[in-house]
This record gives sequence, C-alpha cells and structure tokens, in this order.
Amino acid sequence: MTMQPALDRVERFCRRFGLRLPVLLAPMAGASAPSLSIAVANAGGLGACGALPMQPKAILDWAAEFRDGSNGTFQLNLWIPDPPPVRDPKQERLVRDFLAQWGPEVPSTAGDATPPDFAAQCEALLAARPTIVSSIMGLYPREFVSRLKAQGIVWFANISTVGEARAAEAAGADVIVAQGMEAGGHRGCFDAAQAERQMIGLFALLPAVVDAVRAPVVATGGIADGRGVAAALLLGASAAQIGTGYLRCPEAKTHPAWADALATTLPEDTAVSRAFSGRAGRSIATNYVRAATAKTAPAPAPYPVQRGLTAAMRESGGKEGDFHRMQVWAGQSAALARVEPAGELTRRIWQDAQAILG
Ligand SMILES: Cc1cc2nc3c(=O)[nH]c(=O)nc-3n(C[C@H](O)[C@H](O)[C@H](O)COP(=O)(O)O)c2cc1C
Repeated sequence: MTMQPALDRVERFCRRFGLRLPVLLAPMAGASAPSLSIAVANAGGLGACGALPMQPKAILDWAAEFRDGSNGTFQLNLWIPDPPPVRDPKQERLVRDFLAQWGPEVPSTAGDATPPDFAAQCEALLAARPTIVSSIMGLYPREFVSRLKAQGIVWFANISTVGEARAAEAAGADVIVAQGMEAGGHRGCFDAAQAERQMIGLFALLPAVVDAVRAPVVATGGIADGRGVAAALLLGASAAQIGTGYLRCPEAKTHPAWADALATTLPEDTAVSRAFSGRAGRSIATNYVRAATAKTAPAPAPYPVQRGLTAAMRESGGKEGDFHRMQVWAGQSAALARVEPAGELTRRIWQDAQAILG
C-alpha cells in the first residue's frame, strides 16, 4: 500500500497554513497557556487558544504574548453560545446541597455566573487577526463568517457527526475538525441534548466525514502519539489535533495534581458527564464524577448554571491539590501524555508517525 496520498495531503495542508508538521495543539479553554502554543508553533505545529472564558482584552493579550514568542501560526477558538438556560431554583437547591458535601457551601447566586459576551469576543478575534479562527458547539453567524473571509481568516469548524460536518461546510467552514468521542474536555455536539446519544469513535467518524465533505479534515480525540497521528492520516485526515497529550508538558502549566493523575488514567477510567458545567464533557472519572452521576444524585443544572454552581468545589479542590474535586478533563488516551518539553514532544510524535508511514 502506498502512503503517498496521505503524505501529499499533509504537505498541502502544511503549506497552506505555514506549518512544518501536521500536529495541531487543541484549543483548550482554561488550559491554553501561551507558552504551550509558542513551544508547539516553534516546533512547526499549530498553536491554539480556547478563548471561551476570556474577555476581549485577554484575547488580544494572548495573541500579543504568542507573537512575542513565535512567528508561527495559531488559532483562536470560541464556543457558539447556547440559548439562555431555563432556570429551576428547586433543582439548583438540590445540586447546591449535594455540592456542599464536596466543597464549601454554594451561595444561591453562584448559578448566575455567565461567560463573557460572545459578540464582543468575536470582535476581539477579528482584531487579533489570527490565521485561523475555530468554532465548537455550533456554527458562527453568517455575518461573522463573511467578516472572517473578508479579512482572509480561515475557519476551522469542530464537528462530531457527519451531519454537522456537512452543515459546517455548507456554512463556509474551510477545514473540518472531526472530534471523536474519545476526546478530552467538552463534546462539541451542536445539539447539547444529543451529546451522550451520538457518541461516535474517531475510527468510524473520520472516514465517514472525509467521504462526506470536500474540505480538508483534521482528526482529534484520543490521539497522543505517532501511532495515532499515522492512523488518522491513513484514514484520510490532513493533520491531527492533540489536547490531553500536551497537558503534562511543562509549558502547559497544568495543575500538578491533574497532570500526575493523567499518567495512570486508563481509557476506562474516564467518563462523559455533565457534572462540571452542565454540558457533556470527558474527564477522569473522579470520586465526585462517580457520585454526581449515580442514580441517587440530583440531575445537573443546564450550562452554564452548573459551571457556576461547581466553581467553589473546583476552587477548593485546586487549592488542596485534590484532583477528585477538580475539573480534570481527560481524553481516553490520557496515559500516553508524557512529561516532556512540548517542542520535543511535537517533533517526536511526527518523527514516529513518519517512521510508521514509511
Ligand atoms: C482541558 C480541555 C479543554 C478543552 N476546551 C476546548 C475548547 O475550549 N474549545 C474546543 O473547541 N475544544 C476544547 N477541548 C477539546 C479539544 O479541542 C479536543 O477536541 C480534544 O482535546 C481532543 O481529544 P484529546 O484530549 O484526547 O486529544 C478541550 C479539551 C480539553 C482536554
């Protein structure tokens, strides 16, 4: 079997985005230290910022700090907002009482916390002028897509089904990021209600998406070494995107309790739950996650209410270094994550993949 088509695809993709290798750092909200992106981009890969929790100024500051350290390429990423949540004070009370067994008392206003204003964040993305803007949880509004294109900014759309991939391409996405259900962090389903039902593994999703769209496809979810990258390229991807696999690199500045816990997390030790934010995401199946998903536990509040309600527990868990009470996102390949400088890791992963591809 010839590997040439895969390598040709990689070369076209890398040339288009100014990369020297087809390894992309995943955008990770709350885990996007500029130092990590700088290291990956300086090794020839793509840097990334998960800008969901960031105010416009912080987004611009992130881009400036990246540019101080690298003249490589980066992407800025936002979540497409959900409709406002339907609040249920009685249910929230049950969740608050439950959470008080895991951390401090939860004030009745904790669920009111909202993410930064999406429209203002979009303006910051345009002002930061990255090469790539990416989306998750849906599609950018048509008007914003036109403004991206007018500025020559490329749109990478994260999808988790073939239907979403088709919709993203029809809406103007330039590159499709196929997120398998192995992925760490939130699942990117456009319809939050479907997140647990439509659990598609990358091995099935990737070729199906490659067959369904004309745009280049990036593979993500459970890839953390050269074997995973090689497999993704053979299945039709133009590049591979890695999240959890970078979290133990020193430049990631991950909380040590989280970074250490990843080392012993087998695929079956992770779980998809709504226990942290109200949207489905894959984390280590900690004592809290197991308790919060037990039949007797109160159902979580919707996003982003649940995120506000769990903040006090997560903060006290972090202070005490107790990962069971922290939000320890992890993909199914968590144990492959290595303690290694991110630049070396990036280069080694690509060397290993090339050795496999021949
Ligand atoms: C800590 C963490 C935070 C994440 N935050 C985002 C985010 O803000 N936006 C996004 O598009 N994807 C986010 N993701 C998903 C990643 O972009 C990617 O799909 C995932 O990391 C791939 O799976 P892997 O972790 O097994 O490599 C996050 C993942 C992790 C682990």
